[in-house]
Amino acid sequence: MGVLDVFLQSSSSVSLLGLVAVLLLVYLISSNNFSSLGEGRVPPGPRPLPVLGNLLQIDLKRPYNTLLKLSKKYGSVFTVYLGPQKVVVLAGYETLKEALINYADEFGDRFEIPIIKEEQNGHGVLWSNGDSWRDMRPFALTNLRDFGMGKKACEDKIIEECGYLVEVFKGFKGEPFDTTQLMNYSVSNIICSIVYGSRFEYSDTKFRSMVDKTNRKVQLVGSPSIQMYNMFPWICQWVRNRSEITKINTFIKKENLAIFNHLKETLNPQLCRGLIDAFLVRKQSLEDSGITNSHFHDENLMVIIQNLFVAGTETTATTVRWGLLLMAKYPKIQDQVQEEIIRVIGSRQVQIEDRKSLPFTDAVIHETQRLANIVPMALPHRTSKDVTFQGFFIKKGTVVYPLLTSVLYDESEWEKPLSFHPAHFLDKDGKFVKRDAFMPFSAGRRICLGESLARMELFIFFTTLLQRFRFTPPPGVSEDELDLTPRVGFTLNPSPHKLCAVPLM
Ligand code: HEM
Repeated sequence: MGVLDVFLQSSSSVSLLGLVAVLLLVYLISSNNFSSLGEGRVPPGPRPLPVLGNLLQIDLKRPYNTLLKLSKKYGSVFTVYLGPQKVVVLAGYETLKEALINYADEFGDRFEIPIIKEEQNGHGVLWSNGDSWRDMRPFALTNLRDFGMGKKACEDKIIEECGYLVEVFKGFKGEPFDTTQLMNYSVSNIICSIVYGSRFEYSDTKFRSMVDKTNRKVQLVGSPSIQMYNMFPWICQWVRNRSEITKINTFIKKENLAIFNHLKETLNPQLCRGLIDAFLVRKQSLEDSGITNSHFHDENLMVIIQNLFVAGTETTATTVRWGLLLMAKYPKIQDQVQEEIIRVIGSRQVQIEDRKSLPFTDAVIHETQRLANIVPMALPHRTSKDVTFQGFFIKKGTVVYPLLTSVLYDESEWEKPLSFHPAHFLDKDGKFVKRDAFMPFSAGRRICLGESLARMELFIFFTTLLQRFRFTPPPGVSEDELDLTPRVGFTLNPSPHKLCAVPLM
């Protein structure tokens, strides 16, 4: 979709556009947004046009590809203007590691994009900053752990959920089907058990709608028209995708409120069922001790729940689906995975402990995450103070994109950056090797909060499914025809496709 199409989607007239453009220009010049006077060398980049910045050079369907190309020309720290918004892009393993780890504080704030800001208003974990984030992140982390993350209890939940999924997959009797919804429901149930204290049936229409709509929202947030809205909120406020997002937000909030109210009514402080109960208990005890201005308020709870739901469902389910697609596309690699699983595990239930005895399978999962690159630009960061980094001056409050794609595909780190090559994670004896540039969860202060849960889920889901089924393209479709081009969206999903899951046992 071209820039013009997006404008035309909105009902503003061309003359109004012209007026707004002039006003913006005056604003930008007066607010000094396009210049950086006297404070030191600024990161280089393509010359921006007034108001539009470098917009005409950016592929809005796949902005991460444009940024990757620009990094080849301008180096590992460069400036680009997304409309009037100045963004410093960090590229390549060495640069991201240095910025996110050695300068963790300086690069550790979050930039809340307009479409999210109007909904979440600085609450929750994903998009928050300052004291609120400092209270909410440890709270979320501690409770994810208390309710199972990284522990046996959680492993059991994942195994149980996988069992339900296997039964539904079996029901297709080897006929082709789209794995998206089932994978999403199954993975979502893990985070639901931790957060709400219970799982849902895959046939539960409210649950299905919550999951489907949340995923639709993730796709819409990455659409060209919403990126345009984020750059020019005044002009693009009428774009269709924005009203769809607003409707989804209203629906999800309503459903969550109903769940909260039920949990509140049945709360037993001695027996917390999940993270929501723990939040309510903490809120009550703070209020009991006379603290009424803490960050433990209903708005924060509402946003945290939604953050965990979206981050805990979409990402992991999408990665498993990439894994299945890659197995169907590369049957020889699937043979090796299945040979290893049958030799080491046989037909018994796979457990987390088995990971170390399944180096090839583990390498395939890691390579899937690397190549799938599902969060290509991480989430936008922002500098928390002025910083001089690699000789460049970057002002406090500058938006920063850690370009994870450039690390996962870094030519100086990976032997075959653009191929599916599980040997990236194996030594010459076939033992699993960790690689520093494996950074799909990002790094530093804002590193993914659910990493250990995600890793456990990926291992159990992928290995169990490969133990039980042979994945193939639908009849009449060759392996070569399976398309690895990702769909447009904030996270990178496989393009719509069907697979056959042929039962093995
Ligand atoms: C394969 C699965 C996953 C991938 C690839 C992934 C990746 C990421 C990435 C790249 C970020 C942004 C880091 C940054 O801004 O530098 C992130 C943040 C986050 N993730 Fe994940 N994630 C996954 C699964 C999960 C799960 C299962 C949960 C929930 C339990 C989760 C919760 C979060 C949260 C809350 C944040 C925000 C952290 C903060 O801003 O302080 N993620 N994730």
